[in-house]
Amino acid sequence: MSLELPRRIPLAITPTPLEYAERLSVAWGGPRIWFKRDDLTGFGLSGNKVRKLEFHLAAAIDKGADTVVTCGSLQSNHSRATALACARLGLHCVLLLRRREGEEADLSGNLLLDQLAGAEIRYITPADWDRRDELLVTEAASQNDQGRLCWVIPEGASDGLGMWGFVLALREIADQAAAIDGSSPVLWHAASSGGTTAGIGWGVDRLGLKLRIVACSIGDPGATIRAKVEAILAEAAAQLGIDPPRPHIEYNDAHVGGGYGVVTDEELEVQAEATRLTGLIFDPTYTGKALAGLHREIGEGRYGPGENIVFWHTGGGFAVFAHDFSRIVAAEDPGAPDA
Ligand SMILES: Cc1ncc(COP(=O)(O)O)c(C=O)c1O
Repeated sequence: MSLELPRRIPLAITPTPLEYAERLSVAWGGPRIWFKRDDLTGFGLSGNKVRKLEFHLAAAIDKGADTVVTCGSLQSNHSRATALACARLGLHCVLLLRRREGEEADLSGNLLLDQLAGAEIRYITPADWDRRDELLVTEAASQNDQGRLCWVIPEGASDGLGMWGFVLALREIADQAAAIDGSSPVLWHAASSGGTTAGIGWGVDRLGLKLRIVACSIGDPGATIRAKVEAILAEAAAQLGIDPPRPHIEYNDAHVGGGYGVVTDEELEVQAEATRLTGLIFDPTYTGKALAGLHREIGEGRYGPGENIVFWHTGGGFAVFAHDFSRIVAAEDPGAPDA
């Protein structure tokens, strides 16, 4: 790829490894399962988000910004990653976090880390969330009125700038996947705000990689994710004055269940089983849900022996501490200590 990419600030430790999960593959009895370990990007366990932030925060600093405003759910991985990255770079960080009426803002998981990193937090309602882009601009204007200079990062840093983080990641996969024997690997990943999928799609298309892409939605209908991805690809292409690529992507929304953040006991069981068989930590909202979807499809015979699945482990491990696992993991009563 001879494109000159926008400037970035290296924050992630890359390339992240691609690892074969033998015990999980044998136990699930189907394809060979590999993990692209973006849970090891090394930046506050930032997972996929830090790749996109490298580009956004470079742009913020180049514009002379001293403050960053972004948004997410109460336990947003993106918001936590932004708060930590801003702390590293000495930028003030303001987070608009979506909070349902009556929802406890417990100091746990990502929300605790947001606060430890010194982010300024404002809660917004689900109704406000529908006009989050407008609210980000209003918040930035109000910060600017106080003498700051703000850079706005959209939800998930998923736009024509943040996407480049994943295009770069595809260069890593290009080398790593070449070592996989057998059928073209399926790149299975959790999809939400679309930036990860857009970067993967751009990279696969432009590098001419023989990889099949499955964007496993964790909340939205497939058509919504597709629209977000196409808008991001179009924005990035317009900035370069070229036609957007049209990668073949399967938008799989068969596993959204009750919607964003709603997790069944069956999904928690699959996630816990995967942890027992790999030693890896998954979060119920994103990677755990996407993995449960993969497990279901293997059970239905969609992927069989001889096939390869590269599951992109996009991180998010802290959210595990903000979910209720008591439904499936009984707390042991330590009882009296042994005499
Ligand atoms: C752990 C994790 N995986 C996957 C995703 C989905 O990535 P994207 O929003 O780029 O679609 C997110 C987004 O928040 C995430 O936090």
